[in-house]
Amino acid sequence: MRYVFGNWKMNGTLAFAEEYVNKLLGEVRPASVQVALFPPFTALSSFQYLVKDSFLKFGAQNMYYEDSGAFTGEVSPVMLKEIGVDYVLIGHSERRHIFLENDEMLMKKVEAAHRHDIPVVFCVGETLEERRTGATKDVLKRQLILVQDILSRGDIVAYEPVWAIGTGVTPTMDEIRESISWVKELLKADLPVLYGGSVNKGNAVDISEVSGVDGVLVGGASLKVEEFAIIIKAFD
Ligand code: G3H
Repeated sequence: MRYVFGNWKMNGTLAFAEEYVNKLLGEVRPASVQVALFPPFTALSSFQYLVKDSFLKFGAQNMYYEDSGAFTGEVSPVMLKEIGVDYVLIGHSERRHIFLENDEMLMKKVEAAHRHDIPVVFCVGETLEERRTGATKDVLKRQLILVQDILSRGDIVAYEPVWAIGTGVTPTMDEIRESISWVKELLKADLPVLYGGSVNKGNAVDISEVSGVDGVLVGGASLKVEEFAIIIKAFD
């Protein structure tokens, strides 16, 4: 089984989601790829109806680790469970770097997701500076150290070098292979590891052929339904 996941980030209205999902369901019929979309919260709850009885799975881009309470602006695992999400993204680089979520907080989020049986897509990746100074392996180790024992069957890890996200620049296929194999070495369980960072219709086939890559987490290119369909087909 391979995975093609689309993270819409802070894009996509409810109207966009309805049109997109109908189009995608008409365009692809994946045989060996699990496809999931991660829309913003405002569209998320409609996904339980939009994807009903289809191959399409859906998840949240983030959540808090408490079940309820005075946490203005946050969404809890109980709320996500109620709408039937298949996954929750934890530790996306934008959460780490823009919203300053640290390794301890991310561990609590993984634990909270597990308490409610929500599989996690845990994201890791080095910055350009860290890559340049040869610190990639150490950074990935640090980002995984608190969760490597608790990530388990059903969870997924996404390797996303920060410098490749939204930049149009991707690592070489050797660099992707190396980092993914290091992540797999660090994990205690045998989990799928995805690559993310400027995946598009032009590089999807090459990336799909890199050994160890179990799929992709696509940002910008997942907003164009025709392009996302091509990426799905590349992995199918
Ligand atoms: O979650 C997705 C990643 O951040 C990749 O984003 O495909 O726009 O580079 P991107």
